Amino acid sequence: MLVLGIETSCDETAAAIVEDGKTVWSDVVASQIAVHSPYGGVVPELASRQHVQAILVVIQQALERARLSRHQLDAIAVTRGPGLVGALLVGLGAAKAMAYALGIPLIAVNHLEGHMHAAFMGRDPLGRPFACLVVSGGHSALYLVDGEGRGELLGCTRDDAAGEAFDKVAKLLGLGYPGGVAIDRLARQGNRRAFSFPRALMEKGSLDFSFSGLKTSVATFVRKHGPPPERGQAGAYRLEDLVASFQEAVVDVLVKKIIRAAQARQVTDVAVVGGVAANGRLRELLIEETAGNRLHLHLPEPRYCTDNAVMIAAAGYHAWKRQGFCQDPLEVDAVSRWT
Ligand code: KG4
Ligand code: ZN
Repeated sequence: MLVLGIETSCDETAAAIVEDGKTVWSDVVASQIAVHSPYGGVVPELASRQHVQAILVVIQQALERARLSRHQLDAIAVTRGPGLVGALLVGLGAAKAMAYALGIPLIAVNHLEGHMHAAFMGRDPLGRPFACLVVSGGHSALYLVDGEGRGELLGCTRDDAAGEAFDKVAKLLGLGYPGGVAIDRLARQGNRRAFSFPRALMEKGSLDFSFSGLKTSVATFVRKHGPPPERGQAGAYRLEDLVASFQEAVVDVLVKKIIRAAQARQVTDVAVVGGVAANGRLRELLIEETAGNRLHLHLPEPRYCTDNAVMIAAAGYHAWKRQGFCQDPLEVDAVSRWT
């Protein structure tokens, strides 16, 4: 089954063709970084306009790179939410029009379920049930996922998402957008033990997260010690050390929680997905700690961690196998929140 996946929930316009939820024929992502970076974050109206300009080009490229004609597609999977409604509507509109014109099924996909399916793209089969940590710009949550595509929410953030914490701290330190990648890169030259930031582990046994206190601690640090010195210049502290110490506090909590979840629910397989799962230090610590705790780690390739359409096509294929396709595809609407 050849499924065209379409993703436009935030600031990437993406299309991909995936066979049977596993074999990637093409994978196209058009990033909007250059458009949003002067504003220090995603501007929803600009995102929608960029999606309008890019969507048909990106879909066409996905077909060309796969050397397929649109008439060879078996179904179209598209992100329905959660995300920016104006942005989602562009992908959804294109998907509906194509599905209608080609007379093929449309599958509406939950973006977070998409992220989870990135874990299935590796060679290693996932043992079920498994604990899954989803860490993106809008979400930080832990799920217990069983064999039939059902997930039980084990814990989630009580305030900021992990990616949001990276983005807000990057903005505070003048590192621009997108913040996570900038911090990841700079932290490699810093000392992660230079400063001690709080790790909110919450009450005993809790699988919830909280990152807003950590963000406030970084702001307090900057108020006390002054704005970060220019790179290479002497100052009260090194920016590299500050970001490495902040990153370590985030990563430390994420790793502890996924291990705590696996132990509490006695599972041997764990997966970590979403944009923050591309973080170099998080990947390094996850590999070390899961090995030490005899857990089997599933970590998608970095390009399948951040937003892409391969994961949407894969999730769409599995949803289709499980529950069939939308009966009335033209009635599907975009949703900003979707639990
Ligand atoms: O999954 P994603 O691409 O989009 C959402 O669904 O939100 O995640 C984007 C988030 C952003 O907050 C971004 O700063 C963060 O993931 N991110 C990273 C890295 N790459 C992306 N955070 C830390 N380190 C990275 N390398
Ligand atoms: Zn995402």
